[in-house]
Amino acid sequence: MEEELVGIKNAAISFILECNSLEELEEVKLQFLGRSGKLTQAIKNIATVPLERRPEVGMLANEIKNIIEDTIEQKYQTLKSEHYKKRKSAIDVTKPGIKPEIGHIHPITHTILETIDIFKSIGFQVADGPEIETDYYNFEALNIPKDHPSRDTQQTLYLDTRESKVEPGEVILRTQTSNMQGRILEKMKPPMRVIVPGKVYRYEQTDASHGFEFWQLEGFAVDKNITMSDLFGTIDYFIKKFYGEDIKVKFVCHNFPFVEPGAEAYITCAVCKGKGCTFCKRSGWVEMLGAGMIHPNVLKTAKIDPNIWQGFAFGTGFSRMATLKYQMDDLRLLTNPDLRILEQF
Ligand code: PHE
Repeated sequence: MEEELVGIKNAAISFILECNSLEELEEVKLQFLGRSGKLTQAIKNIATVPLERRPEVGMLANEIKNIIEDTIEQKYQTLKSEHYKKRKSAIDVTKPGIKPEIGHIHPITHTILETIDIFKSIGFQVADGPEIETDYYNFEALNIPKDHPSRDTQQTLYLDTRESKVEPGEVILRTQTSNMQGRILEKMKPPMRVIVPGKVYRYEQTDASHGFEFWQLEGFAVDKNITMSDLFGTIDYFIKKFYGEDIKVKFVCHNFPFVEPGAEAYITCAVCKGKGCTFCKRSGWVEMLGAGMIHPNVLKTAKIDPNIWQGFAFGTGFSRMATLKYQMDDLRLLTNPDLRILEQF
């Protein structure tokens, strides 16, 4: 029995000394001192030793147990201090920390919010409307009957209506936020000043300056004695607030069926300040808006008397506004999910 106990002691000590980690030490402890550990079992067996030798063997077992426990404790302290030393040397306090990644507002959202702020400050209300629209509000109510040639310029996406009660070709994805002119003129009583920021869709091949889904801004005002100069003043005010006081606006004649007279607004290229660059194709000007006086037919359709009320309307693209503001040469960058692009703005 004594021999067995001494053997256990020697084995335990050599195992303990060989331990390289706290985990290993814990295992060795269990192996010898655990409930079914070698020493624990041997101590249980002392009961089989003849009575007269039992105290002696018991004392030896106790002594061995103390030795093993002391050795474990010493090894534990050594391993623990080594462990901390290693950890300390792994932390280099002079290294720069890891920067937490913080998101920010997307350039398009930023453009929309800034635009809304500017128009709100001059008394415009903000309206929202459906992206799934009827042919009526997108075209007919805007003085664009079924066979009108201007429909060709708005590559329309038709929704499959086979299962519904709606006539085929009547439900579309809106091609312009002007769809809200009819809806709002019909519901609100003049005078009114409204802007409608929103998404529109066209069946277009995507390239650097075209997308199949993009954001537009529609704006219109209806009141008594509204003239073209109210329109010019409003656009000029907005462009200068958005791009800076040094930006000029020029208007040229243009036809849109829902305005008469109609115009297109060009602004000084904000990239080169009018000197000419690749962004403005060396012209110094960038086409920015469609605009004009609301056509009497549009007012009449909405049951507003054009002899009493007049209005102006304008429309522009937020993507165009954003690319010019942030000097991007490709509209597609705005819908690219690559964070390396977005982080720059
Ligand atoms: N809806 C027109 C377009 O998408 C722009 C426009 C709006 C023109 C209002 C005149 C008046 O091209």
